[in-house]
Amino acid sequence: MTASDAYLATLALKKEPPLVALHDVHLSFGANQVLKGIEVEVRRGQAVSIIGPSGSGKSTVLRCITGLLRPQRGSIRVGDTQVDALRTEAELIALRKRVGFVFQQYNLFPHLTVLENLVIAPTRVAGRDRAAAEREARVLLEKVRLGHKEKAYPGELSGGQQQRVAIARALAMQPELMLFDEVTSALDPETVGEVLTVIRDLVNDGLTCVLVTHEMRFAEEISDEVYFTEAGLIVEHGPAARIFGDPASERTRAFLHRALGEGSRNRPSPVLLPDPPVAFSRARFAL
Ligand SMILES: Nc1ncnc2c1ncn2[C@@H]1O[C@H](COP(=O)(O)OP(=O)(O)O)[C@@H](O)[C@H]1O
Ligand SMILES: [Mg+2]
Repeated sequence: MTASDAYLATLALKKEPPLVALHDVHLSFGANQVLKGIEVEVRRGQAVSIIGPSGSGKSTVLRCITGLLRPQRGSIRVGDTQVDALRTEAELIALRKRVGFVFQQYNLFPHLTVLENLVIAPTRVAGRDRAAAEREARVLLEKVRLGHKEKAYPGELSGGQQQRVAIARALAMQPELMLFDEVTSALDPETVGEVLTVIRDLVNDGLTCVLVTHEMRFAEEISDEVYFTEAGLIVEHGPAARIFGDPASERTRAFLHRALGEGSRNRPSPVLLPDPPVAFSRARFAL
């Protein structure tokens, strides 16, 4: 590719609308104003991290992207889908087939083998051929380095292994976007690395990812763009090198100083950082 070709390719990329766009998103739970005008853009192939204090609204942003929560105001678009305008269950299911969501709790089916956990949604929900779904599941298990565990049951695996199965299960639906919400927060320290390695591989493969994480060094390493949230607002965002190297806001600086100073390995206990245990359907209908 010549320099001018590269330049034209850059221009073309810039012209392509973002895959995910949140504009002026406001959301309250009763009197609790949780999102106060969120602006986020994610381009195809990007890894975007959302960092910030507990309770600042990070998980709520991800839930809005999948249509699990509906904001009172603002616009959310994923590809051609205006998420905030979706009304029927069928429309929401169609969206969720395109958006993989992995969170702290793996929620694997305990009575199904690892392979069956990966095959069930593609065959039952997406109507894919069983043999093809199994073939694809085996490829994904290799990708998350668990090819040797396809016949195991979730209860026989470590937390890190179960989380890798959960990631493979989300990928089995061939999503165009993956959301990761603190997927390593509940893991034993020794299994965190293996899960981060899998996510790093996916990012390097060019999968579009939005990550909420307390693993600051990891966010710095793999993100194209980092958003810092506090109290329902995006305080600032920018390329990872700038946010971590030279944050514009004193708030970001103080947060990073604390988070990195205490050591990103030295994460707070998940017991101290409960994600509200909200059943999805209930969360959606509560609004
Ligand atoms: N389903 C819910 N019902 C009521 N309040 C909620 C619900 N989910 C989140 N919240 C509140 O919204 C705020 C932001 O939560 P959350 O998005 O989980 O923050 P973060 O992920 O940044 O820790 C918190 O005050 C939390 O208690
Ligand atoms: Mg959260």
